[in-house]
This record gives sequence, C-alpha cells and structure tokens, in this order.
Amino acid sequence: MKIAVVGTGYVGLVTGVSLSEIGHQVWCIDIDTEKIEMLKKGKSPIYEPGLSELMQKNIAQNRLTFTTKHSEGFQGADVIYIAVGTPENEDGSANLTYVEDVALKIVELVTQDTIVVIKSTVPVGTNNRIQDLINQHKERDLRIEIVSNPEFLKEGTAIYDSFHGDRIVIGASSKYAFKILEEINKPFGIPIFQTDIRSAEMIKYAANAFLATKISFINEIANICERVEADVEEVARGIGMDQRIGNKFLKAGIGYGGSCFPKDTKALLKIAGVVDYDFELLKGVIMVNKNQQELLLQKLNNRFDTLKDKRIAILGLAFKPNTDDMREAASIVITEELVNQGANVVVYDPVAMENAKKVLVPSIKYASSVEEALQEAEVALILTEWDEIKKIDIESFRKMKTPIVFDGRNCFDLESLQKSGIEYHSIGRPV
Ligand code: UGA
Repeated sequence: MKIAVVGTGYVGLVTGVSLSEIGHQVWCIDIDTEKIEMLKKGKSPIYEPGLSELMQKNIAQNRLTFTTKHSEGFQGADVIYIAVGTPENEDGSANLTYVEDVALKIVELVTQDTIVVIKSTVPVGTNNRIQDLINQHKERDLRIEIVSNPEFLKEGTAIYDSFHGDRIVIGASSKYAFKILEEINKPFGIPIFQTDIRSAEMIKYAANAFLATKISFINEIANICERVEADVEEVARGIGMDQRIGNKFLKAGIGYGGSCFPKDTKALLKIAGVVDYDFELLKGVIMVNKNQQELLLQKLNNRFDTLKDKRIAILGLAFKPNTDDMREAASIVITEELVNQGANVVVYDPVAMENAKKVLVPSIKYASSVEEALQEAEVALILTEWDEIKKIDIESFRKMKTPIVFDGRNCFDLESLQKSGIEYHSIGRPV
C-alpha cells in the first residue's frame, strides 16, 4: 500500500519507518526543510536505538521517502497518517491547530478515496470533529474516512515496541476502514483491538493516566515506607506478584516526566472538566508527581543547613534512560532550585547533554564523564537510571570530597552501599 505520514516527530517517524519495514511504500512529510534533508540522508534527528539503521535500510530499498511537499506524498496514497504534535495549551488542554491544518491540506490536495488515520493524541470527540471539518470542505465526491489509531510506544524502546506491542487499537466507523487498517497492520503480528472512534481516543488517555497513577501510587507508598522503615522495592515485588496488580510500572523514584504523562494527564483532567466531571484521583496523581520531583531537594535541605557553595554532582539528566529527551525531566526543577540556593552544580548525562544545555539554567557546569562530575563533589544526586550510572564503581563515590549520595532512582544495592561507608539516601528504603 502507499502510505503518507504527516509529521516526522517521534511518533510520525517511528510509524513511517516501521510501516516501511513491513513492506509498505511510505512517504514521510514534514514542513521542516532542514529536518527532511537530514532524514533523506538516513540521519535521525532523535536518539532512538535502532531507528537510523532501519531508516537507512528502507531508504536504500526504496520503500521510504521523505518530502516537504504534501502533494507528492498524498498522490495516490491509500492511507494518510496524521502524526503532528498536539502541544499543551496554557490551560492544559491539547492544541489541535496542527491536526486541523493537515486535515484541510488533505481536503485540498487529495484526489482519490483515502483513509485518514489520526495517530496524534487528541481529546475524545476530535476524530469526529476532524471528519466533520473534512466533510464540510470536501468539494469533490470523495470518500475520506477518519480512523483513530493511538500510539503506545515508549521512547528508548520505540522500535522494539513497534514490533512487539501488546495491542494495536483501531477505532473506526465502517467495516471498510477496519479491513484496510487490519491489512496494513497484519504483518506486525500484534493483536488488533477494534472499537469505536471515541473509545479508541479514550483508551489512549486512560492508559497513560493509569500508568501515571501506578507511578504516583508506588511513590506515595515509598514515602510511607521511609517513615515506617519498610523497603519499597520489596513491597513492589510483593504486590506485583498478584497478577491483578502486575509487576510493571512500580518503580519508585522521583516521579514521571517526558512528553506524554505530564501532558496527557493534564489534558484528561481538562476533558473531564469540560463534561463537568471532577477527576479527583487524577488530580492527586499529578500533585504527588510534582512533590516527588522535588523530593531530593527536600531531603537535601533536611540533611544540610545550607547548600550555598556546596559542590553538587548530578548524574543523569534525561527524563528516563536511553533517550536524550529532556521534556518535563525532574533535572530541570532540581538544578534550577539548587542554583537558586547557591550550590555549585556540575552535571553529567551519557546522551542528553546537548538538549540539557538548551533547557537548564545557564550557570551550571557540564562534565564529560561520571568521574569528572564526581571530582571534589560534596554530594552526588542520581536523577536518571542509565546503565552507565548503575554500573558506577562504588570506589568512585568514595573518592568524592565527601561520599554522600542521594539516589532518586534506587540504582544501587542498599546493603553494599551502606557497608562501604558511603552515606546513601534512596527512595522508599531505610537509610
Ligand atoms: C509513555 C507510555 O509508557 C507509552 O505507552 C506511551 O505511548 C507514551 O508515554 C506516549 O503517550 O507517547 P514514555 O513517556 O516514552 O512512554 O516513557 P515511560 O517509559 O512510560 O516513562 C515515563 C516516565 O515514568 C519516566 O520519567 C520514567 O522514569 C517514569 N517511570 C516509569 C517511573 O518513575 N516508574 C516506573 O515504574 C515507570
């Protein structure tokens, strides 16, 4: 099939590349000329394991083409995927301008019957609204049908997830659309869940809100564990063995970040608000996460009279490992506050340093290795559980000016750290 994908951001690019890998002819469209030039050369603008290799392979086999011209991509396309951004408006709602612009472009340029698949995360009812917009502007006698196909992939494992996901959700209103989408997705070998359009839209928000709830829940349990001298890692293992609870997404830490959970939880609150529903639980989830991002600051302030002129090493900046994404990372809030309190901050991240420079306060120093960051440090803060950080030799901490470690991601075995004479504070575990 010929498929056009509009938007070469995270979701669009991974979708386009994966669809080409299973044999479709894919045209990825973006208005950003520089980005398209880079993509044509097989270079990925984002750090995502396996993505560049797959891009290069499918470009070479003529299944994957990049263009800035919508008309070129849309010509003869059986299906057009919309994967443009839905950034957060100031009031927490989703900004749909980009999705609407693409819909109008489709009406203007398409000359054949087409299925339009919305991948972008959009509030319940948006797909129907876009269908109405298309119907209103459509002049010719064309069949342009909207399908909702939300995305569930995770940054850092996006390529793996594309081929090993738990389900593909398809929300459509005709047998024809279900049939086309089933044909497209069959080679992935992933169970397909067919439903109505509105439920598909809701599944995306409900899934992310539920996962965020699991994280905030275990983080609150961790905070109580600290006070009653229990160990949250043990508690998570113990409750996770109950299959109704499940053992995933129960890792206590300094909260969730990234481009999805913070934005989608707020958007769902907004969606509920519009229909006069007060989503109390979700409000709590969001609030707990905000406090959790600041937990290490609280712990530091309890431990020291002042942080002024203290040399603090920060290890890990990205919102999670295996990505260079800094969006909503706890490191942003933490570094800013440390600098406000007069600390002398030096940071290190294996991959996210360039992106970090764009968003962190200017007065911090960047080290080129863990060792360099720890040199002369009086305190080390671990914010992202990169493998490189988890494998740090305990001796490196002992060489610090004062070996005090605050670990926001429970990277180390409690007993070994404590035995080695390092002052080790972690999340939800006895000090
Ligand atoms: C998340 C969802 O997991 C995907 O299914 C979804 O498709 C995606 O959002 C999206 O809506 O596009 P992602 O943001 O890439 O994916 O990252 P996750 O691996 O889910 O992690 C999110 C945050 O939660 C990270 O900051 C991570 O450190 C934190 N987390 C995760 C925890 O603190 N504890 C856990 O047990 C799991």
